[in-house]
Amino acid sequence: MARIFSGVQPTGNLHLGNYLGAIRNFVNLQKGNECIYCVVDLHAVTVWQEPKNLICNTREVAAAFIAAGVDPKKSIIFNQSAVSAHTTLSWVLNCVVRVGWLNRMTQFKEKAGKNRENASVGLYVYPALMAADILAYFATHVPVGDDQKQHLELTRDIAQKFNNDYDVDFFPIVEPLILEDAARVMSLRDGRQKMSKSDPSDNARINITDDADTIAKKIRRAKTDSEPVPDGSQSLGTVATRPEAFNLIDIFCALTECSRTEIMSEFGGKPFSEFKPALADAAITSLGPVGTEMRHLLNDPAEIDRVLADGANRARSISEPIIKEVHGIMGFLNP
Ligand code: TYM
Repeated sequence: MARIFSGVQPTGNLHLGNYLGAIRNFVNLQKGNECIYCVVDLHAVTVWQEPKNLICNTREVAAAFIAAGVDPKKSIIFNQSAVSAHTTLSWVLNCVVRVGWLNRMTQFKEKAGKNRENASVGLYVYPALMAADILAYFATHVPVGDDQKQHLELTRDIAQKFNNDYDVDFFPIVEPLILEDAARVMSLRDGRQKMSKSDPSDNARINITDDADTIAKKIRRAKTDSEPVPDGSQSLGTVATRPEAFNLIDIFCALTECSRTEIMSEFGGKPFSEFKPALADAAITSLGPVGTEMRHLLNDPAEIDRVLADGANRARSISEPIIKEVHGIMGFLNP
């Protein structure tokens, strides 16, 4: 049995990329594995969060997990700040990770932008906290979208360095679980940018909570080009020349679990005005029930809080003994 760990930031606007790239896989992985799913509120505050919004967004991510099919009786659902192992271990790992390694993290460069001097130190050491999330549970497998791949490679390096430095075989070396078909869902407005919670245009993403009309409208307005749907031949373009067209095809593939070849043989050569309604139907069929269930769950915030409290207790019972062992290995006196 593998131990699965993953996290989602409560920064609002959960979208189709989060669902297809990560949350949907959380559900499937429950079969035969021990799963721990975390609402990573400590990661969220590496950029400013309005406290009232953070509370709502934390419950919203927990509700999304449950609405998508994560069973809180079987899997652990909790928020990161409720379990002190994360911050305790992240300090230890801050002392293991090298500045040079963090300097290579592309997500920091993207998020800090041109004004690096003004970015929080938390944003810079974000990947060490992420490594702590995973290693505090001895997790072996981590389902994520493609954008987290570099952070997981760093987690492996950190675990390896800790084991080498202290001459122990302690932390496991994690395996990323990145599903090919939806590893990188792109923006509906620009096929070269990933779909993101922070895109200022709401039309660039499909939010998990969008209703059927909004989903259909966003897909109708999604950027394409003047060519018909690609049919697999070079004459109708490639992913590199038609990123928006292939993004819509890939979203269709992920939603329907069909291959690109199947989709292109059905729609190839047809105008996008014929393809888009079919894509909208697939998105509504897949996301609609999740959004409805989320709204229903969010009507009872006390119940969500109960799930999170129970999850935090169970998370503590796994991570606390691991942290004790870390302290012992490092020579921290515990009188
Ligand atoms: P976050 O909150 O940005 O995103 C949550 C999950 O959604 C995936 N994702 C996407 N997948 C496909 N296409 C997209 N356009 C897209 N956008 C986001 C992300 O890859 C992620 O799996 N650092 C993490 C949170 C985290 C974590 C962890 C994950 C903290 N600790 C430990 C795994 C294990 C993050 O910012 O995800």
